[in-house]
Amino acid sequence: DWTASNVVADQVAAIRAQVGDARVICGLSGGVDSSVAAALVQKAVGDQLTCVFVDHGLLRAGEAEQVERDFVAATGVRLMVVDARERFLEALAGHSDPETKRKIIGREFIRVFEDAARDVVADAGAHGDEVKFLVQGTLYPDVVESGGGEGAANIKSHHNVGGLPDDLQFSLVEPLRTLFKDEVRAVGLELGVPEEIVWRQPFPGPGLGIRIVGDVTAERLEVLRAADAIAREELSKAGLDREIWQCPVVLLADVRSVGVQGDGRTYGHPIVLRPVSSEDAMTADWTRLPYDVLSVISTRITNEVSEVNRVVLDVTSKPPGTIEWE
Ligand code: XMP
Repeated sequence: DWTASNVVADQVAAIRAQVGDARVICGLSGGVDSSVAAALVQKAVGDQLTCVFVDHGLLRAGEAEQVERDFVAATGVRLMVVDARERFLEALAGHSDPETKRKIIGREFIRVFEDAARDVVADAGAHGDEVKFLVQGTLYPDVVESGGGEGAANIKSHHNVGGLPDDLQFSLVEPLRTLFKDEVRAVGLELGVPEEIVWRQPFPGPGLGIRIVGDVTAERLEVLRAADAIAREELSKAGLDREIWQCPVVLLADVRSVGVQGDGRTYGHPIVLRPVSSEDAMTADWTRLPYDVLSVISTRITNEVSEVNRVVLDVTSKPPGTIEWE
């Protein structure tokens, strides 16, 4: 019968049989799937696995630390961190079109990951080993979806690590291929993956880059990160995390409105809260959050984030709105 510990035992045996004594590489994003897949492979083959975390600077407050510190402490994985924050900012400079931003982020991500993979391959080669395998956190619904033609996924260009160049040919290790999301979470808990990662709500690969309406700058990222951290903290405190599918927090960087604070007039930016309820992100409804929670979030953001003088609530279902604003 299905238990998380049976799945772990079966997958550990299967991974060992598949990879033998070759080396394995895995890209970590901070999300549930890549983390649980990496933890499984780590349990199976230990230091034959090297994880690569590309810090593109578009994560929310505390998320890079969750990967670099908490995940490593919990699993003991060998981690290579690539600090690519400057590189992404430079590549994104001056671009405000959503699809252009997505393409730039996807392209840079693959380039940085490729370079890191080459370093891992070279390092293994220096020890007489070969890197033959790439771990992917593919879930059962992904398997079904990619066999079943195109879905709403094609409305926006989602990015994954795919299409690596010829000199980087890996076979895939996909230990989550038969699992649904709730099963992946159970397996993650069984493996001791930190709860903040196991229960993390969906977060897009392009990260905060597609939650700034306008071009992406270091200052704007800081504003959005601060507002987002407040919203997440208050939603968690109110016990709403499991009820909400996800709650994008969006900075309207190209919009300003007049406000008043203390004795002075302000001319700041609006922050949009986009709490949604959903089963699978294909359709969604806006979550009827309690007014008192909204009130605390609004007061705190406008008090604590000086560039923001207005907080607005998105009350659009999907369709016609998408969950993300870009
Ligand atoms: P939309 O905005 O299309 O989002 O309603 C549906 C779900 O997908 C997430 N999303 C992404 N996830 N890479 C990802 O890994 C992406 O480029 C991407 N774009 C949107 C979004 O957060 C929501 O859960």
